[in-house]
Amino acid sequence: MKIIDFRSDTVTKPSPGMWKKLKSLENSDLGDDVEGEDPTVNELEQKAAKLVGKESALLTTSGTQGNLIALLSQTVPGDEILVEERSHIYKWEVGGAARIGGLMVRTFPSDKGSFVPNKLQPLIRHKDIHESITSLICLENTHNDHGGIALPIDLFKSTKSFATKNDLKIHLDGARIFNAAVALNQHVTEFTKYVDSVQFCLSKGLSCPIGSILAGSTELITKARKFRKMLGGGMRQAGIVAAMPLIALESNWTTRLAEDHKNTFRLYEGLLDSGLQINIQKPDTNILMVEFPENVLMPKIVDLLNNVGIKTHDTSQRIRFVTHYGLNEDDVDYSVDVILKTFKKFFDSL
Ligand SMILES: Cc1ncc(COP(=O)(O)O)c(C=O)c1O
Repeated sequence: MKIIDFRSDTVTKPSPGMWKKLKSLENSDLGDDVEGEDPTVNELEQKAAKLVGKESALLTTSGTQGNLIALLSQTVPGDEILVEERSHIYKWEVGGAARIGGLMVRTFPSDKGSFVPNKLQPLIRHKDIHESITSLICLENTHNDHGGIALPIDLFKSTKSFATKNDLKIHLDGARIFNAAVALNQHVTEFTKYVDSVQFCLSKGLSCPIGSILAGSTELITKARKFRKMLGGGMRQAGIVAAMPLIALESNWTTRLAEDHKNTFRLYEGLLDSGLQINIQKPDTNILMVEFPENVLMPKIVDLLNNVGIKTHDTSQRIRFVTHYGLNEDDVDYSVDVILKTFKKFFDSL
C-alpha cells in the first residue's frame, strides 16, 4: 500500500546534497562543540545568525529546547510572559516555561494568530507591589495551530512598539519562519529585525534530521549557551548534526518551501467541493486544516485514513495535513482521491 505521510514536516528525510555534505566530513573536521571547537557548528551558527540578521546563533537539539532557552535567557523565575492561547509554547512544550523557567504564563486570544498588541495593555503587570513582572511576549510565525497562517510584518511592527513602551523582550517562535517569509514574499530579516530572539527549526521544512537555531544578540546567545548546557543540550562532535543544515541554509532551500505551499493549495482545491460536512481553511503555507462537526470522533477518522495509507494527526476537531520535501503533485492528487473516498464512506456510515 502506498503511504503518504502528512503528519508533519518533521518526517522529512535529508536531500542527496545533505548526505553528500555529511559524508564529506573526516575525523579531522570534528571538534568538541561544548568547547566551541567544532568548525562545522561554528560555520552553521555564523551563517544562521547572518541569515536572520542577528549577531550570534546557537545550535539547539530541537525547537522546544530553543524556545525554552530563549525564555530562560530573557526572564527570571517569577516573571510573567504573554503567549497567544494556541501557541506551541503554551500548548505543546510540556509546560517547560513553568516547570523549568519558573515563569507565569499568561495567554491572550487572537483572531487566527493576529491580535492588536495595544489591546494587551491591561495584561501588563509590574507597577503594583503585589504583582509579578511582565517581561516578555512571544510571537509564532507561521502559526501552527491556526493552520500555518503567515502573520504579516505589521503585527511585528506593532508588537515591537508595544514591547518598547512596556519594557518587554520579544521572542519569535519561528519554527516555520521561512514558510512565512516565502508566503509573504519577504526576506526573513523583515520579521526578525523586530524581535530580540528567534528560534527556527532545521528539522521541519528545511528537511534536516535534527536541530534548531536560536539567534539573537551576542550577549543573549552567550547566556543561552550556558542554559543549553544546563538542559543537557551541549553536544560534542556536533559537526555531524550541523553539516546537513549548512546545505539547507546555503542553497536556495528556503525558497523551495514554495513547492510545499503549492502542494497544500492543490490539496485544498482537491478537497474543497466535496459536498461533505467538512470545513476547510484556505492555507497560507504548508499546513491544511480540515474541520469536522462536533459529533465526529476524530481518532476514528485518523484511523480510517491511516488504514488506507494516509497518515495524519488530529487537533481540536480538525485533521491537520502538512506538506513537505518528499511529497510531490502526484502524491497530492493520489491522496485527494483516497481522502475523499474515505471521508465519504465515513459520513455515509453515520
Ligand atoms: C510552531 C512550533 N514551535 C516549536 C516546535 C517544536 O519543535 P521540536 O519538535 O523540534 O521540538 C514546533 C514543532 O512542531 C512547532 O510547530
